[in-house]
Amino acid sequence: MRAETERLILRPWEARDLEPFAAINADAEVMRFFPARFTREETVAYIERIAALESEDLGFQAVEEKATGDLVGVVGMAPVKPEYPAAPGVEIGWRLARHHWGKGYASEAARAWLAHGFDNLGLPEIVAFTYVGNTPSRRVMERIGMRYDPASDFEHPALAEGHMLRPHVLYRLKAEDFQR
Ligand SMILES: CC(C)(COP(=O)(O)OP(=O)(O)OC[C@H]1O[C@@H](n2cnc3c(N)ncnc32)[C@H](O)[C@@H]1OP(=O)(O)O)[C@@H](O)C(=O)NCCC(=O)NCCS
Repeated sequence: MRAETERLILRPWEARDLEPFAAINADAEVMRFFPARFTREETVAYIERIAALESEDLGFQAVEEKATGDLVGVVGMAPVKPEYPAAPGVEIGWRLARHHWGKGYASEAARAWLAHGFDNLGLPEIVAFTYVGNTPSRRVMERIGMRYDPASDFEHPALAEGHMLRPHVLYRLKAEDFQR
């Protein structure tokens, strides 16, 4: 997907994104709700893996700041992995460089993805999930109109029992509830 919002460009990954994205993934504060930070090699592998999944329709893609060309981070949508209780479905997610927090960029990019999902792809629903204690991410979900569905709380299937980050919450947005 390629799209422009007021302040952002949403686009596929490019070679120049590697260094700034590796820095985002190596930042302990950005990654505090993930089991581990990424090494540079893991960022390379991640970009290769998500770039391979990219299509005209879905993907976790690069977000660039229009005014500066700076990489803001990653925002996008992908099919929920089959091992998650929310599957089958489409999820939306985000991860931004710390110096771009607090500007409304995650919400701005996410709204463009939601519009694409509902208006161009005709999806009936889009979900999002995160660790129960990830308040900033839950706030983005609420800001873009998603609703917490307590009945769908789940334990992250890739994490061992007892792992602190295991309890996850799920938010939903149905096409008919999307506010343009
Ligand atoms: C989750 C994350 C993307 C949220 O970033 P964020 O900058 O707080 O989110 P938004 O883009 O929605 O910005 C909203 C904030 O910007 C402020 N803001 C400033 N200008 C704004 C504008 N023009 N429009 C909207 N909000 C604006 C808002 O007041 C709001 O602050 P508040 O939450 O204190 O009310 C960020 O914390 C992050 O990358 N975290 C680490 C990765 C992660 O955990 N990802 C989720 C995994 S599931």
